[in-house]
This record gives sequence, C-alpha cells and structure tokens, in this order.
Amino acid sequence: MHHSQRFENKVVIVTGAAQGIGRSVALAVAREGGQVVLADRSELVNDVAAEISELKTGNREKAIVANVDLETYAGARELVEASINAFGRVDILINNVGGTIWAKPYQEYEEAQIEAEIRRSLFPTLWCCRAALPGMIAQRCGVIVNISSIATRGINRIPYSAAKGGVNALTASLAFEHAQDGIRVNAVATGGTEAPPRKIPRNSDKQTKE
Ligand SMILES: NC(=O)c1ccc[n+]([C@@H]2O[C@H](COP(=O)([O-])OP(=O)(O)OC[C@H]3O[C@@H](n4cnc5c(N)ncnc54)[C@H](O)[C@@H]3O)[C@@H](O)[C@H]2O)c1
Repeated sequence: MHHSQRFENKVVIVTGAAQGIGRSVALAVAREGGQVVLADRSELVNDVAAEISELKTGNREKAIVANVDLETYAGARELVEASINAFGRVDILINNVGGTIWAKPYQEYEEAQIEAEIRRSLFPTLWCCRAALPGMIAQRCGVIVNISSIATRGINRIPYSAAKGGVNALTASLAFEHAQDGIRVNAVATGGTEAPPRKIPRNSDKQTKE
C-alpha cells in the first residue's frame, strides 16, 4: 500500500505510545516517513517499536523508546533528551498521555482520586511542553498537538474534565505566546474510540468506559 510521506525528515515524540490512540498515531507517523520517539511508562511500548521496525519504510532509524513516567518533570526532560541524543531535535510533540481513571458523580470522588486524575491528564502535557519548548524556540519551528477530549462538556468525570479544560487553555495560551517563535500549538478533542480491550488498565479496580 502506498502512503504519503508527510513526516519525512521529521522527529516526532508520541507520548502514551504503548496502546490505544498513541500507538495508532505512532504507527501512522512511522508509515509516513517520520522518526518516532515512543514514550510510555509501560514496557509494552517495546512491542510497538518492534512493529515499527518491521514496517517497510524509507526512513533509516525509525523509532526509539523512552521508558519514562511523564507525571514527573524529570521524566519529560529525560524524554526530550532521548530524542535530541538519537535524532538531534524534536520537530513535533504529540501529548497523548491521559485518560479518565474513575467515572462517577463528583461527590463520590476521594481527595486522592481527584489529585490522581489531574496528575494523569494535565501534568504530562504541561511537563512535556515545558521540556520541549527551549529546543523548538532555538530552532525557530515546532509543532505541538495536545490530545484533549469532548469530556470538557460531559458528566461523571469532573476532575478529568477539569484537566482537559486545562489542556485546552494551555494550548491556546501557549500558541499565542510562541507564535512569534514559529511554533504551532493545537489540540484535538477526541470522542469515543473503537479499540481492543486495554492491556494497560486505567486503574487497578475495574475498567470504565471513556
Ligand atoms: N479512548 C477514548 O475513547 C478517548 C476519548 C477522548 C479522549 N481520549 C484521550 O486520548 C488519549 C489517549 O487515550 P487512550 O484511550 O488511547 O489511552 P490508554 O489509557 O489506552 O493508553 C494510555 C497510555 O499512556 C500510558 N501512560 C499513562 N500514564 C503515563 C505516564 N505517567 N507516563 C508515561 N506513560 C503513561 C499508558 O501506559 C498507556 O500506554 C488520552 O489523553 C485520553 O484522555 C481518549
């Protein structure tokens, strides 16, 4: 099958690349000629790297793995350093880590659960943007795509909704702040996706539907 080569000579970080949307995005970028940095805290991300190495594409070194926890700034810095060490730069950052951990009416959330939702669905995007920005400013170009959600107008996931509302706000504000540096920042508000059952669950008690 012929694919266009929209990502030829582009270095693309995809976070949360071990499964779901991140995995599919990473495979699509690799098929279209991009060099991909696959970021995930799960070791299953290595399977995606293996899948990419088997693709018949023109790009020499197609993918590397960064096994990092993006709820920490240290993890985000390590990720950007891995990309620079392997490929020299970051052209495109796709912030995909996130997802509702518990869906229920707000009055039933515990304090620790509210904090966990914000750490999962807001901080990884904040940290990765912060870590990637200096390099993009220096090269005077860059693209950031944040994966948001229709949940900012939905019920039964208020902490997640707040986190994604934060993602939407930082997307617009960062775009204004760094347009002059040649950096574009956009968000995609996805709805439900069709995907196989998650190998890496959202939480340890039970699976909830996105
Ligand atoms: N699936 C949907 O229907 C849907 C709908 C709207 C929005 N979204 C958004 O799309 C994005 C992806 O959703 P999905 O359903 O594919 O996710 P998923 O839960 O299936 O996969 C998330 C991946 O991120 C990784 N991850 C989680 N926390 C991490 C951390 N701290 N550091 C590094 N890696 C980490 C996990 O290991 C996993 O591989 C999320 O931001 C989610 O909010 C999804």
